[in-house]
Amino acid sequence: MSAVAELRQALPREGVGFVPTMGYLHRGHLALVERARRENPFVVVSIFVNPLQFGPGEDYHRYPRDLERDRALLEAAGVDLLFAPGVEEIYPEGFATRVQVEGPLTALWEGAVRPGHFQGVATVVARLFLLVRPERAYFGEKDYQQLLVIRKMVRDLGFPLEVVGVPTVREEDGLALSSRNVYLSPKTRKKAPVLYRALLAMREVARRGGGVAEALEAGEEVLAGVPEFRKDYLAIVHPETLLPISRWVPGARGIVAGRFPEARLIDNLEVYP
Ligand code: PAJ
Repeated sequence: MSAVAELRQALPREGVGFVPTMGYLHRGHLALVERARRENPFVVVSIFVNPLQFGPGEDYHRYPRDLERDRALLEAAGVDLLFAPGVEEIYPEGFATRVQVEGPLTALWEGAVRPGHFQGVATVVARLFLLVRPERAYFGEKDYQQLLVIRKMVRDLGFPLEVVGVPTVREEDGLALSSRNVYLSPKTRKKAPVLYRALLAMREVARRGGGVAEALEAGEEVLAGVPEFRKDYLAIVHPETLLPISRWVPGARGIVAGRFPEARLIDNLEVYP
């Protein structure tokens, strides 16, 4: 039986909480699952490495995959249904539709570095929402811009569901958990918390009354201490529009992204108040 047919058969009419993922699960994903379990009688997790959201030179083909391990983790976490469709089920021959959220929300930051990425994300998430028909869907703050893009799509298209954002789960040294962390060599792994340290430095300036420009300088200085990290951007932005700010607003977000030789990493943090 196809994964979609299996889903149709097992899916209850209501009370579905949904956690979309690309698999290779870690404690960050499991935090979303636990939250979904608390808030919904029936929890569906999807595992689908979505080709549409990867650019030409990106890691689609080597993206880490381990479905059997993921299945065991989800069973232990009490998930009711694992939906792991094949590419042909999500995008049958001739599939030609794209969901595009327009404007700065998708043009800036990750959207500028990864053209087409958010169109790929919005398209697959819309497709998954229509298959799974959840009442609540769970997304990590780790991918803060993605969370906002999905909220916007849900509002604009009127998907009858609530989008729930879940705080970022980190390693002890502050590195945000990510499936891509497995790419890091031991040497790079030691340096990888620099993203979080830069965000903390910015929050520290805000806490002791410094301005936005000063906070940015403090963040830049931390990044400059690790030349192996090639910054794509470091910014302080409005938490809803993601436009850069020059004066503090409540919830102001520090965002950072860049490349180590083995992997590209992103992170963000509320830096104000
Ligand atoms: P993936 O990278 O597998 O992440 C799935 C979900 O887990 C996303 O909502 C992401 O923000 C969340 N997540 C990842 N690391 C986290 C961490 N350290 N703490 C908290 N949450 C974390 O994001 C995607 O997949 C895809 O773009 C997807 C939404 C599934 C569409 O293909």
